[in-house]
Formats: sequence, C-alpha cells, structure tokens
Amino acid sequence: MENMELMKPDTKSRILLDEIDTSAIPPMEEPQRQYYYMAKCREIIKERELEYGRHLNANVTTFGCQMNAKDSEKLRGILEEIGYQQTESEEADLVLYNTCTVRENANLKVYGHLGLLSNLKKKNPNMIIGLCGCMMQEPDVVEKLRKSYRFVNLVFGTHNIYKFAELLYEVLERQQRAEQMQQSPAKTDMVIDIWKDTDQIVEDLPADRTYSFKCGVNIMYGCNNFCTYCIVPYVRGRERSRRPEDILCEVERLARDGVKEVMLLGQNVNSYGKTLRKQFSSDDSAQNTASAGTEEPVSFAELLQMVERVPGIERIRFMTSHPKDLSDELIDVMKHSKKICNHLHLPLQSGSSRILKKMNRRYTKEQYLELAAKLRREIPDLSITTDIIVGFPGETEEDFQETLDVVRQVRYDSAFTFIYSKRTGTPAAAMEDQVPEDVVKDRFNRLLALVQTISQEMAMKVEGQTLPVLVESINDHDDTLVTGRLSNNLLVHFPGAQELIGQIVNVHLTECKGFYYMGEMAS
Ligand code: 5AD
Ligand code: SF4
Repeated sequence: MENMELMKPDTKSRILLDEIDTSAIPPMEEPQRQYYYMAKCREIIKERELEYGRHLNANVTTFGCQMNAKDSEKLRGILEEIGYQQTESEEADLVLYNTCTVRENANLKVYGHLGLLSNLKKKNPNMIIGLCGCMMQEPDVVEKLRKSYRFVNLVFGTHNIYKFAELLYEVLERQQRAEQMQQSPAKTDMVIDIWKDTDQIVEDLPADRTYSFKCGVNIMYGCNNFCTYCIVPYVRGRERSRRPEDILCEVERLARDGVKEVMLLGQNVNSYGKTLRKQFSSDDSAQNTASAGTEEPVSFAELLQMVERVPGIERIRFMTSHPKDLSDELIDVMKHSKKICNHLHLPLQSGSSRILKKMNRRYTKEQYLELAAKLRREIPDLSITTDIIVGFPGETEEDFQETLDVVRQVRYDSAFTFIYSKRTGTPAAAMEDQVPEDVVKDRFNRLLALVQTISQEMAMKVEGQTLPVLVESINDHDDTLVTGRLSNNLLVHFPGAQELIGQIVNVHLTECKGFYYMGEMAS
C-alpha cells in the first residue's frame, strides 16, 4: 500500500500532499486515491491563484440535518486541503450546496438559490457550482438539473462524498480543456456521479471542524426502518454501522485535539451494531480503511460506555433514537453516566396508534407513553424532545387529538413540528385521503401553541439553579455576553468574554426567558 503515512490519524496531511507524485498513476486504494486527487486539484488551484493574483474561495452551504452538517465538515476539509479559503458569501469561486430532501420545501429552496447562482456565474465563468447530498439521490432531480440547470458543474450523492476531490478534479480538468480549445469554461459538461447504494465506509479524510470544542461523530449511516412518509432510506441507503474501534479512535483523536463534547450521529442510533457482524464477517474490502475487525456486535449502550471512558470527553450527546429500539440497557447506562447529557430526542411522529401503524413506526401510543413514563421515572431531570408530523394521509381530528394527548402527557421540553410533505416514491405518497391543506394548517397551529406553552413551563424548572454550561460563542446580539448550553440542551446567555469559549463553567440561572436563560457565572 503506498502512502501509508497518510493514514496516520494525527498527521497533518497538508505537508504530505506535497510528497505525492502527481505524475504517477492514481492509487486504487482509499483514502490514498483521494489524497492523490487533492494534490492534483491543488496544482490547478495554485495556477489559478497565480493567474488571478489572489486566493480562491469556496462556499459550502448546508441544508438539513446534523448528518449533512457533519458531511459538510468533511467537504470543507477537502477544499481546505486543496487550497480554497472558506467564505460565507455565495459570490465565490466554488459554491457547493449540500442538500436535503426530507420535505418538499427543502428542494424548492435549492432551486431558488440556483437562480441566484446562475447570475453570479455570468460574472465569473470559471465559477464552479456543485450540488451533493440527499436531494441528488432522486433521479427526477438529476434529470431536471441536467435539462434546465446546465450551468451546474458537479452533481454527486450521499454515498460517494468521500470522492469529492476526484470529482472536482474532473471538473477542473474539463474547464482547462475548454480553455485550451478556446471555449467558454462556463459551457463545460456537468460531472454527475450518483450511486444507488454502497456498503463502503471510507474514513481518514480531512475535516474542517466547525467548533473546536464539540464535534459530531458518525456511528452509522443509512436507515432500514422505512417509515412510510420518509425518503431517508431511499436517499441514504441501508443501515451500516462503523466499527467500534474506529469510532473510539476518532473520539480519542478529537479529545486530544481539545474536543469536550461529542454528538454520536445516526438515523437510528438505538439499532447501532446490529449489522456489524454481517458487514465485517468476511471483510477484505480494499475500500475499507478500517483496522482489523470486531467479531462480536456491540450494542449502542455498550458503545456509549466505551466513549464515556475516553479521557477528556466531558459530554456525550446522541441523535436520533427510535422509540421501538430504545432498550432498558440504554436507560440504565444513561441513568448512571456522568457524561451523557440529560437530553433524549425521541421522535413521536403521531400519537394515534392507527396512524403510527400506517406510518410503519412499529410502536403504539401506549408503548410510547410507557417508555416515556419509564424514562421520567428512571431519569427524573431528563429533557425529552421530539418530532411530530401533522396531516399524515388519513389523519382525522380524533387521531390528531391523540397526538395532543401524548404531548400533554409526556410534556416535551421542546418539539419540532412538521406539516406532512408528500415525497414521491414513499408508500405514503400513494395513499388516498391526503388531508386538505387548511385542515392541516389549523391542526399545526393548535399543536404548536400547545407545544410552546408546555416547553416554556418545562424550561422554568431549573430557574434559580447553578448548572454547568459549555460556552459556545460570543452572543450574536450583545458582545459583552457569551452563549452556552446546559446539559439539557437549553441555551444560556451570561456576561463573559472570548476566553470562556470551549470551557464548561458553572452558571447561576437567574431568569428564564421562555426558551432560554439569562445567567451569571458562579464564582
Ligand atoms: N413530511 C414531514 N415531515 C417529515 N419528516 C420526515 N419525513 C417527513 C415528511 N415526508 C420529519 C420526521 C423526522 C424529521 C427529521 O423530519 O418528523 O423525524
Ligand atoms: Fe426516516 Fe423513519 Fe429512518 Fe427516521 S427512522 S430516517 S423517520 S425512515
């Protein structure tokens, strides 16, 4: 294997890129192949820097969830290696949209933004416009882009984001060829690479972390649940767990780097490990850069305990838990943990057992309530948050009342409420009796009012207490204040300065302002 050096977790690859022989044929192994293409891209970017007399800049815009935010850190890391400087502005040399498609309006937003980009590209024909992420896994979308958005240079999906450098090189090369043939680089053909699914997990690529003190860590990819409204299993593929030793290695590395809080990420973290044995039993995949395999599957609760033992890590969060898979073992681990935060996101989706069945959620209203009661009993100060969909096909007023009933009984600390959005290709999209828009809007408003009243009451619970806060930033509106998070995920603003960022300090919670606190640092 060549360039083994590249796989050393703590080595700065920036120096090593210079050691890569870019005139050699590209290596077949990953991630070496991608480092090779990063070096090739960098050569072209350096030429352009000389030509323009300035640095090139890149904008990565994220739509959607924590998974996408995590993917964007990887994409930014690759761009940084190549030599791009990050910018918030979309008036950039490269703009990459990491898209979401969970609801229709996520797609509409992207098309809206693309209109703006086409105007910017008229001013800068060498501008590179790339699209990746969940929305690109939909064949209709790619077809539409191919036909009506020909100024886009690069389209790739969720399964091959690790290949970004290789694909970008293809774009840069096409632009160079066009220039040599005295054609406008703006007219080069789109590079499209979409995979239907994958069983590969390519690791050890660069990442540009958004925060120095907290970081998301993927523990699994994809989803096998097929809730009938949800497009995620179609765009993120089958469930694959990362090996525990690789996850731990990453967490240890982050801790050495000063990270205090990790968020373990997966579409359904409670089913972590279930596919491990199958995935790695005959593992000789050249693409998988992970080290020697674990024979025995590890449960999510066990993984949490392993992460808990990593020195330097002070807080552990995770997202998202499916109620059907939440084990007593996990509740027990959470109850006794000093590091796992007092927060559990437990999507309800609907309070009606009839609708839950149509949603393929595989729990009933009663089972959910029982689970919530057990959680409250075992971990009394646990903050429970949720996701709720209003207007699923066939939802009646009675079904909706069941949802309100669960909200009243569980008393969520906060809830994300969504209007059902029909996603082509999902079973629910073909269901009859879609609920009229005005009925859904009315239900949505009633739900929101209830959720907000309860969450304000719940937030009040810790007023007057002194609790640890991880300081995240200078306050957006008042630079004499800093903003941080309680273990239960509530925000706290209090007087403080830059040097507190990244520290965990005790804060007296003086006043609850509904969804956040004002406080004072305890001496
Ligand atoms: N319509 C509305 N909301 C949806 N979600 C997923 N699919 C849809 C859809 N088709 C919501 C679910 C999920 C959250 C991330 O998005 O509540 O938990
Ligand atoms: Fe979608 Fe259900 Fe999977 Fe969550 S568990 S990603 S809602 S299919």
